[in-house]
Amino acid sequence: MLLLVLKAIVNILGKPMIQRTWERAKLATTLDHIVVATNDEKIAECCRGFGTEQCNEALQKLDKKYNVVVNIQGDELLIEPEIIDGIVKSLQAAPDAVFSTAVTSLKPEDAFDPNRVKCVVDNQGYAIYFSRGLIPYNKSGKVNPQFPYMLHLGIQSYDAKFLKIYPELQPTPLQLEEDLEQLKILENGYKMKVIKVDHEAHGVTFQKMLKR
Ligand SMILES: *[C@@H]1O[C@H](CO)[C@@H](O)[C@H](O)[C@H]1NC(C)=O
Repeated sequence: MLLLVLKAIVNILGKPMIQRTWERAKLATTLDHIVVATNDEKIAECCRGFGTEQCNEALQKLDKKYNVVVNIQGDELLIEPEIIDGIVKSLQAAPDAVFSTAVTSLKPEDAFDPNRVKCVVDNQGYAIYFSRGLIPYNKSGKVNPQFPYMLHLGIQSYDAKFLKIYPELQPTPLQLEEDLEQLKILENGYKMKVIKVDHEAHGVTFQKMLKR
């Protein structure tokens, strides 16, 4: 009853990367189907080659068959299957949430990098806010080495019913200002569950592969 959408696969990562991602995703026990959504013909061709169901418009697949949809962004291609299962299970365990996602420890050197999105949560693990700026912001103006800052990972799962409402939601001021799609969900008053994961190893691997 679960569908995984691997989205926005960037060209630079090439054929072995998408295949590797697909193979990893298959190890997640909560998924029934894996769909690669791409508008790149080279990627589509590659996916046909290793047997994935290719699909340009993944939303069309969202009929009654699936109750949760998982989406992995192009910058998280080496996501661990345990993280996929973790966000799916956390969404299922939080019936008031329509969306779930994952965070990991933010490296101090990434604190002021606007491409690293930070997240703060309430004491039940629901997202309060996401920002390209450092949140929370210490009054010293510096990174507080004692504070457990959190980095948002490009993986999320949605309630399939919410996914039908979602495209109809109009852009919101905070979403537009930060250029962060997920803020639209919070600004419309929906709840988002956030799990904290250890994602250290992945980051290192990914960097190495890009440098090659
Ligand atoms: C800010 O960061 C410093 C360490 O750099 C820490 O000692 C302090 O408690 C933090 N919070 C405030 C409000 O200063």
